Amino acid sequence: MASHPLLMIVLAAGKGVRMRSDLPKVLHPIAGRSMLAHALANARATGAAALAVVVAPGMDKVRAEVLGIDPAIAVFEQSTPSGTANAVLCARPALERHRGDVIVLFADTPLLEGATLRGLLAALDGGGQIGVLGFEAADATGYGRLLLDHRGHVTAIREHSDASAELRRIGLCNAGAMAFRVPDLAALLGRIGNDNARAEYYLTDVVALAAGEGLTTLPVRCASEEAMGVNTRAQLAAAEAAWQRRARRKVMEAGATLVAPETVWLAFDTVIGRDVTIEPNVFFGPGVVVEDGAHIMANCHVVGSRIGKGARVGPFARLRAGTDLASHVHIGNFVEIKNAKLESGAKANHLAYLGDGRVGEGANIGAGTIFCNYDGFNKHFTDVGKGAFVGSNSSLVAPVKIGDGAYIGSGSVVTRNVAAEALALTRAPQQQRPGWAAKFRAMMGRRGARAGVNPERG
Ligand code: UD1
Ligand code: MG
Repeated sequence: MASHPLLMIVLAAGKGVRMRSDLPKVLHPIAGRSMLAHALANARATGAAALAVVVAPGMDKVRAEVLGIDPAIAVFEQSTPSGTANAVLCARPALERHRGDVIVLFADTPLLEGATLRGLLAALDGGGQIGVLGFEAADATGYGRLLLDHRGHVTAIREHSDASAELRRIGLCNAGAMAFRVPDLAALLGRIGNDNARAEYYLTDVVALAAGEGLTTLPVRCASEEAMGVNTRAQLAAAEAAWQRRARRKVMEAGATLVAPETVWLAFDTVIGRDVTIEPNVFFGPGVVVEDGAHIMANCHVVGSRIGKGARVGPFARLRAGTDLASHVHIGNFVEIKNAKLESGAKANHLAYLGDGRVGEGANIGAGTIFCNYDGFNKHFTDVGKGAFVGSNSSLVAPVKIGDGAYIGSGSVVTRNVAAEALALTRAPQQQRPGWAAKFRAMMGRRGARAGVNPERG
C-alpha cells in the first residue's frame, strides 16, 4: 500500500439542476446528514493527509457545512461551474502544495467507503499513473463508460451523453473517484477541452489525454451498491435505500433483532446495542443510542435520544431530542417525550406529554399526564421525585416540583410544589344526588311521548 501522503479533493460545485431544488444538490440528506458530509467522512476514512472541497460562488450553506465539519478543510471556489476538470483546477493551490497522491471524489457519490477509496491507490502501486474506480452497473444510464484495451488498461472514458449506442452497451462504468500520481496533474487537466454534448470540461477526458502521453490508467472495481451517483430525486431515494440496507445488515451483525429490517430507518450515527429488539416501522433520526437489551415496539419515532439498558418503548411512542431513558424505563403507546430524563424503572405507559423535566427512579406517570412546559414565551422544568405517583389526566404546570413518593390525584392541575410523601388534589369535589337519574328519565319520557319520540332510543 502506498505510503505517499494523500490529498482528497471533493467536488461539490455542480448546480445539480436535475434535482429541481432550491437546496444545493450535495446538501440533500441521506440517513439524516448531507451527501457532502457522507463524502467528507468517507474521504477522511482513507486517512488522507489533506482534504479540499470545491464549491460554487454563492454556495454559503455548502461552505458552512464543510467548515462546520472541520474548519481545517481547504475550500476553493469554482467561479463558473463548467465541468469536473475545471473544478479540480480550482483547487490548484492545494495540488501545488501537495507532494504525493491525489484522489478526486464527487460529493454526489455518498456511499463510496473509505476502504474502497483507499483501494484505488492499488492502481498506482500496480504501475498506473491514474486509477479509476469502476463498477458494473445494472442500469448504466448517465454514467461514463470505461473503454479498455486488450491489457485491461483504461484508454478513455466516454460520457453517456457522448457515447454511441454501441459504447452505451458497455456495462463497466466510472464510479466517479479517480486517483493520480501525476506530478503535474494541473498541467494535464489544463489541456482538456469542452467539445462535447454538455460543453463542459470533463475530468474523465484526462484518461485519453494521459494515454497519449504514454501514461497508464488502471481500473479498480468496486461493488455497484457503493458506486451509486445521485443526480435526481429518484437516485437520492435509491441511495438512501442502499445505505439503509447496509446499515441494517451491520446492526443485525452486531447482535440486534430487526423483526422486519426493511421497515426500520436508521440515521448515520444510530448506535444499537446487543440483544436489542426492534419491531416493524421504527424511524431513528440523528443522535440515538439504544443500549443492550432494550425493546422498541412497532411504530415509534425516535430522534436525539438515549434508550437505556432493558428499557421498553412503544408501540406508537415519540421520543424527541433530549430524551434520556435510564435502564428498564417503560414508555407506552402515544407518549411523547422531549428534553426529559426518566430515571431507572420510571414508567409512562399511556398517552402523555413529558417535556423539559425529570422523572425520578421508579415513579409512575398516569395516562393523560401533561407536563405544561410552555407559557407562550418560555419553557419551564417539571421535576417528579423518586417513587412519585402522578394520577391519570393530571396537568403539571411548570415550573413545578413533585417531591419523592408524593401522590397526585387524578385530574389535578398542579401549579405549586408538592412535598415528599404528600397527596395533592386539585379537582372539584364530586357532587352526588341520589335518585336523580330515574327522575330525569321519567321527565324526559313524558316529554318524548308528547313529541312522539322514544327517549330510550334518543
Ligand atoms: C460524473 C462523471 C461520470 C461518472 C459519474 C459518477 C464526469 C464528466 N462525469 O457524471 O463519468 O460516471 O459522475 O456518478 O466527471 N461538479 C463541480 N463542478 C462542475 C461540475 C460538477 O464541482 O462544474 C461536481 C458536482 O457537484 C458533483 C460532481 O462534480 O458532485 C459530479 O458532477 P455531475 O454533474 O453529477 O456529473 P455526472 O453527470 O454525474
Ligand atoms: Mg453526478
